[in-house]
Amino acid sequence: MDLSGPLDPQILAEIDAAFDVYAVLVFPDQSLTDEQQVAFSAHFGPVFTATNYHRPGKERRLRPEMSDISNIGHDGGLLAADDERRLHGRANQLWHTDNTFKHIPARCSLLAAHVIPPSGGNTEFADMRAAYDALPEERKREIENLVAEHSIFYSREKMGFTGFSDGARAELPPVQQVLVRTHPATGRKALYLASHASHIVGWPVEKGRRLIEELLDFATQPQFVHAHRWQTGDLVLWDNRCTMHRARPYEEMTQRRVLHRTTVSDEINSVERARQDQNSAA
Ligand code: OGA
Ligand code: MN
Repeated sequence: MDLSGPLDPQILAEIDAAFDVYAVLVFPDQSLTDEQQVAFSAHFGPVFTATNYHRPGKERRLRPEMSDISNIGHDGGLLAADDERRLHGRANQLWHTDNTFKHIPARCSLLAAHVIPPSGGNTEFADMRAAYDALPEERKREIENLVAEHSIFYSREKMGFTGFSDGARAELPPVQQVLVRTHPATGRKALYLASHASHIVGWPVEKGRRLIEELLDFATQPQFVHAHRWQTGDLVLWDNRCTMHRARPYEEMTQRRVLHRTTVSDEINSVERARQDQNSAA
């Protein structure tokens, strides 16, 4: 397919149908401009302004909708070893799904490959529907109505980074998300987890953490995981509601890796959505 211009409704319907079934779609040989990527992304819903972690005085390299998934600076050269952006890049190596730390999380993300290192730097995806289906029935019953607290600062702390300003913390307070989501298009249930998930609401913190760690381990077993090996020009679209992903390491101090991400907003917070679904079922 060529996603660079307006698509006819028939093609868009095919993409939507494939997205619901497969949750991760790869479109090779696109080499979209940022403008074209934003236009295609808007088909799926409102495009988020990229999180900038409240870094006053730091100019963004890309337009506001673009998350800069790269290890380069304004001059195109590698970032300094201690640049804070390297930390966010490294935190992407923890299994997660995008924007669960926002009240209204992400529906899907679109990631375009501009520069790919000669080795390493795959992105892996875990199918959280398949993982949910494979859980023992007793576990499914136990976790059915649990709610987790998510915070961007929790996943960053796991990487040993705690230097966020009060301004940043005030902008991104912890939020609640369900632990099991029902996909609105397919009705399939999926585990809804991320490195940002800190604990279970109403449970002792350590007990909740153990459950989250156990489910993360379970869901990322090899039979649920696909590794994408990037080619320049690829555009990959994934459903954040029923997958997790992580970046794999590469020679980040010497090799450039440049990807541009757009993130499409969900309609509503996942706890509010579950409440609505329960009310309409009653
Ligand atoms: C992202 C992300 C992983 C990667 O862009 O949301 O987690 O491989 N990227 O860069
Ligand atoms: Mn991500």
